[in-house]
Amino acid sequence: MLIPKPNLYPPFNIVRLSHVELGVTDLAKSRAFYVDTLGLQVTDETSDTIYLRAMEERGHHCIVLKKSGKAEAGDLGFKVFSDEDLDKAAHFFKAKDLPVEWLERAYQARTFRTRDPHGVPLEFYSKMDRLAPIHQQYALYRGVKPLRIDHFNCFSPNVDESVAFYNELGFRVTEYTEDEETGRLWAAWTHRKGGVHDIAFTNGRGPRLHHTAFWVPTPLNIIDLLDLMATTGWVANIERGPGRHGVSNAFFLYILDPDGHRIEIYCSDYQTVDPDLEPIKWDLKDPQRQTLWGAPAPKSWFEHGSLFAGAAVADSVLKAQPIIAP
Ligand SMILES: [Fe+2]
Repeated sequence: MLIPKPNLYPPFNIVRLSHVELGVTDLAKSRAFYVDTLGLQVTDETSDTIYLRAMEERGHHCIVLKKSGKAEAGDLGFKVFSDEDLDKAAHFFKAKDLPVEWLERAYQARTFRTRDPHGVPLEFYSKMDRLAPIHQQYALYRGVKPLRIDHFNCFSPNVDESVAFYNELGFRVTEYTEDEETGRLWAAWTHRKGGVHDIAFTNGRGPRLHHTAFWVPTPLNIIDLLDLMATTGWVANIERGPGRHGVSNAFFLYILDPDGHRIEIYCSDYQTVDPDLEPIKWDLKDPQRQTLWGAPAPKSWFEHGSLFAGAAVADSVLKAQPIIAP
């Protein structure tokens, strides 16, 4: 059995993914991308940090842009249900001999950082400053009209190991890709919040952050963003799509920020809250897996990713080849 049985009663309750910190080398350029082009809302700004939220979000931030000498990814943030869950989470990671470091994080109450067994930096908290709703302030909608952060996707050097570990944390697999020759996992999509995923893993040199995705209202918002990017100096930052995924059935577009951090614009996947939801299996060689309409992803999509701060990378154990555009 490739996929572990869903762990319906995990040791602590993760509500959803929450935020990510990205190290960026030119804050003004990043602001032009995330604020002026994508339409994320600035919730605080200093000389070296910009905090952003999307239109439906009440929490203070879903992306933190931090001026840095290195274009690297920082912690992947997750919200837990209560302070009691936060203490249980810290206990869980300590018991696994993983590092637990309590941090001062602006706009967040008690927060700790740890790492998964491959070195992905993770951050857990239960309370973040809450802001007034803006989802009906339509004068504020710009760019692709981003509504909320949807998921992370990480390159993993061993997807079987990643799935086993996150299964212990209560992440349930919704879809997965198997390499038919070895019977091993090549990719998996796992969720807490009831969509197709909060975090996915793709076979490759890692750990590295493959992308962070934002949910938008309709596919037409993605077409509008493409027109905007194509005529405002961002055409080279369009990497893949638009298209319809086989996996997740979502409409998608992949773009690169000024430092090469990959962002996915994503909409219309499906509900997965049933505890007995059967994971959907895909064959790595199925041409409709990546894109339902058959177009393969470019080589860069399988090779390029953001390094995580302080994480050593390793080649993937599985060497199976996906379908790559010529
Ligand atoms: Fe994605």
